[in-house]
Amino acid sequence: MDTPTPASVRPRTRVIAIANQKGGVGKTTTVVNLAASLAERKQTVLVIDLDPQANATSGLGLRPKRGCSLYPVLTGASDVADIIQPTPYENLNIIPSEIDLAGAEIEIARQDDHLRSVRKALERVLEAQVFDFILMDCPPSLGILMTSSLAAADGIVVTMQSEYYAMEGLSVITDLIRRLRENGVNPGLTLEGILMTMFDGRTRLSQDVLAEVRSHFGPLVYETVIPRNIRLSEAPSFGKPITDYDPSSRGAQAYREFAVEFARRARRGRS
Ligand SMILES: Nc1ncnc2c1ncn2[C@@H]1O[C@H](COP(=O)(O)OP(=O)(O)O)[C@@H](O)[C@H]1O
Ligand SMILES: [Mg+2]
Repeated sequence: MDTPTPASVRPRTRVIAIANQKGGVGKTTTVVNLAASLAERKQTVLVIDLDPQANATSGLGLRPKRGCSLYPVLTGASDVADIIQPTPYENLNIIPSEIDLAGAEIEIARQDDHLRSVRKALERVLEAQVFDFILMDCPPSLGILMTSSLAAADGIVVTMQSEYYAMEGLSVITDLIRRLRENGVNPGLTLEGILMTMFDGRTRLSQDVLAEVRSHFGPLVYETVIPRNIRLSEAPSFGKPITDYDPSSRGAQAYREFAVEFARRARRGRS
């Protein structure tokens, strides 16, 4: 007899931070389009926009609203359940960002145990186990918000632009991961993978950078490489992920492929 799977044996929610302290390396583009591609595959996804610039929020068609971000949850003024917003896309929800989130840095710094603030803010979402994936779009800085996001994550995906100096500064993140593990804040934290973005296969430079990153990090580098694709850069101004804006573009194809590879690897990491 077929019995429905009880919620308790569902695989637990995977919390993944998309991070790199450099700006303009494809973090937000990856969060938006990976989330949409996973949602298309019937995975339930929660995007958390942690960048006060709110690019992931607007990229998924929402207008940033004051008071509607993780900020009031971090300070205890709001319940996380009241902040989660639906997007125009099935299976895809978001905790938006707003400019006030910038103030959260100072606010969190004042709290005891501030490294655990994001994890604490998400406690009720994690208990509910309604999402397959939580994808956090980190700000391009090494502030407390970014550090506490990593402290709340199961894994980190680092995006890297296929250009010279791509690897420069990567040790900052790998050191941070090591420290969060060793000091017991997040013992299970892993570097989930490295995603090469804005790859231009016609240039020697892109090829060389890819080869160099692969020689250093081996299988940690995802097989899928995201090409430089103009449609990917146009989509945010229409407030749409690429799967909606131009579903047959090379960019859409690449992010759909990435979603499959990402989910496969993430499932392996599930205990
Ligand atoms: N694969 C790509 N092809 C073309 N443009 C891209 C691609 N990925 C990102 N971009 C553009 O590059 C800029 C920086 O990307 P973004 O995702 O915002 O980076 P980050 O969040 O790391 O700052 C944006 O204007 C974005 O539209
Ligand atoms: Mg960004």
